[in-house]
Amino acid sequence: MTQQTELAGSFTLPNTSVTMNRMGYGAMQLAGPQVWGPPRDMEAAVAVLREAVASGVDHIDTSDFYGPHVTNQIIKQALYPYPENLVIVTKVGARRGADKSWIHALSRQELIDAVHDNLRNLGLDKLDVVNLRVGGVMGPTEGSIEEPLTVLAELKRQGLIRHLGVSNVSPKQLAEAQKISEIVGVQNLYNVAHRNDDAFIDDLAKQGIAYVPFFPLGGFTPLQSSELDAVAASLESTPMQVALAWLLHRSPNILLIPGTSSVKHLRENLAAATLQLTPKVLADLDVIGGSTKH
Ligand SMILES: NC(=O)c1ccc[n+]([C@@H]2O[C@H](COP(=O)([O-])OP(=O)(O)OC[C@H]3O[C@@H](n4cnc5c(N)ncnc54)[C@H](OP(=O)(O)O)[C@@H]3O)[C@@H](O)[C@H]2O)c1
Repeated sequence: MTQQTELAGSFTLPNTSVTMNRMGYGAMQLAGPQVWGPPRDMEAAVAVLREAVASGVDHIDTSDFYGPHVTNQIIKQALYPYPENLVIVTKVGARRGADKSWIHALSRQELIDAVHDNLRNLGLDKLDVVNLRVGGVMGPTEGSIEEPLTVLAELKRQGLIRHLGVSNVSPKQLAEAQKISEIVGVQNLYNVAHRNDDAFIDDLAKQGIAYVPFFPLGGFTPLQSSELDAVAASLESTPMQVALAWLLHRSPNILLIPGTSSVKHLRENLAAATLQLTPKVLADLDVIGGSTKH
């Protein structure tokens, strides 16, 4: 039987044999409120991950600073030994303060420790993809990323990492990163209402590089818009499904990692791959993003 997720299509990371369904899953929300674990209902968290994989999701986005450590431990508890086709993408470059704050952790030793923390908590001897997370969550901060990326490139040469990506970066920072290592993906803030990266996405598509929007549903405060509600009603779907279908339509190099701690929302999100958006719907949605394109 064809799974709904298959309708999202697939994407192969550049110069690799790694092919992923474009409908993935973002694990950050599993840790619990404020991404600080453990979750109130561990069984529910395990159930979300198992259902995602059973439904055809083969791309899970995580980090060892979610929880901290807890999200990766839940992934291992739910899915280890991992299915052969499962791609776990993690990120390094931050740590959590005791007050639950998010603090940059980009020194050589912090990056080495973070890679080893990910390996240990996920139960892996090699990480599929590691994103170097720099900048701020709401957008990149210009400045060289050479030093931290060079550390990750070394760890890749040592065999601890298969592929590298970057997160919260500008096009200039990507170009700098590409001089140091092959970069398979960029993970930045982007959704139907927040389209600052439009030109960047088009450029990455030309280069065959994956673009993985975080906060595809708006993040901690999910998207709210009367236009989105009206389109959803016209398609007999939900606003969150429309937001995801729009991203799938936006560019073939976009890979989705919507986050949820609920099986009900997971099912709803995966079903977004079945939605077809008409030119009229796309024009209506451009009002939210303030765009006249796409
Ligand atoms: N690189 C970075 O700096 C960075 C930053 C942030 C996030 N990320 C990654 O991006 C992934 C996605 O981001 P995210 O999870 O923060 O944001 P998101 O996917 O935009 O939205 C998650 C929020 O939407 C809710 N939600 C999910 N599905 C829903 C549905 N069908 N109906 C109503 N509400 C729904 C969730 O609540 P429920 O749990 O109640 O469903 C949660 O509050 C994360 O898991 C993480 O891996 C990366």
